[in-house]
Amino acid sequence: MKKTIRDVNLNQKTVLIRVDFNVPMKDGVITDDNRIAQAIPTIKYALEQNAKVVLFSHLGRVKTEADKAKNSLAPVALRLQEKLGQPVKFVPVTRGKELEDAVKAMKPKDVVMFENTRFEDIDGKKESGNDPELGKYWASLGDVFVNDAFGTAHRAHASNAGIAANMKNVVAGFLMEKEIKFIGEAVDNPERPFVAILGGAKVSDKISVINNLLNKADKILICGAMAYTFYKAKGWEVGTSKCENDFVEFAKEMLAKANGKIVLPCDVVAVNISSEDAANDFFGAIEKAKEKVFASDKLPKDYMGLDAGPATIALFKKELAGAKTVVWNGPAGVFEVDKFAKGTNEICKVISELKDATTIIGGGDSASAAIKLGYEHKFTHISTGGGASLEYLEGKELPGVAIINDK
Ligand code: 3PG
Repeated sequence: MKKTIRDVNLNQKTVLIRVDFNVPMKDGVITDDNRIAQAIPTIKYALEQNAKVVLFSHLGRVKTEADKAKNSLAPVALRLQEKLGQPVKFVPVTRGKELEDAVKAMKPKDVVMFENTRFEDIDGKKESGNDPELGKYWASLGDVFVNDAFGTAHRAHASNAGIAANMKNVVAGFLMEKEIKFIGEAVDNPERPFVAILGGAKVSDKISVINNLLNKADKILICGAMAYTFYKAKGWEVGTSKCENDFVEFAKEMLAKANGKIVLPCDVVAVNISSEDAANDFFGAIEKAKEKVFASDKLPKDYMGLDAGPATIALFKKELAGAKTVVWNGPAGVFEVDKFAKGTNEICKVISELKDATTIIGGGDSASAAIKLGYEHKFTHISTGGGASLEYLEGKELPGVAIINDK
């Protein structure tokens, strides 16, 4: 068991809270503030305990001076201020006198947020390379370190591992606690039947997840473009669909090892587009093309599968009936285009309607799809981590979790 923010005295202390405010932005405007919303309970709790709260996060990848402008956390600080309902002092640097003075001037219940930790990457990757001097410096600013950045827990950077190495009190925030509880328990101690639904484009991204979950889940429902590599492994025609030929052997091995645990989609929604059109304007071409439904083992040579069909949804619904734990990671089709989003949306709906089941979405595109559909409250837990939740599902120990003190 990991220590949490409840286990330390925060009264009058300067509390460093690492959050993951790496939110999607378009032209300087935040397009999804879920990660900010999910951090609020930890921040509010620390303020109620009379702490001085210093927040920090990375945003995007910062390689050049030019990357700085579009990756400033200033708009995020403003959004946080609105959500928190109290002033957030934004300090536009990552170290130096301005930051130190701002922290020294804090009173209990004040909030300071400093600039994108990855601004430190420009000069020798100090943040991402976990430069020991940088971690030590940030640690020197506070008394307690709260790691609430589950989305970044698969990284060992100066702003998590580096700080932790220099502090006595390292505890989890409420979001981190929730993520560890739901994803960790689903994988290590699930209530059964445990059904995993894995989608997305590539088998190669999910090799370790499939491997790990084959030993843990009762059923694995495969969907998305990744299914075509499995079809090929079964000797079926895949037409012009995405298929990773280098992973056909792996898919064969998994099917053999699964002994019936792996369930593949039984029909696909497909279009006939020329390779030229696909190369020139893929989304435009699939939008215009007329879609048709085929049985998965009857796909014509010149068709490209882009979504799961209605019979697959019925099959998945049957497989999910009675499940007590469900983990879903990865869309069932090209959900960015409305007419190929049906499979993903229907799967989302089917899971959300399950009674008495712990339902978890493992971050990334499936989380965005659920939130876009307004289903976020219909799941037990929607992870804020994309890469992090995937690595957790692989059964790996995440560095950002490992650094937290045990109880
Ligand atoms: C994420 O969005 O997955 C995390 O914030 C980590 O970001 P990164 O992949 O740029 O390290």
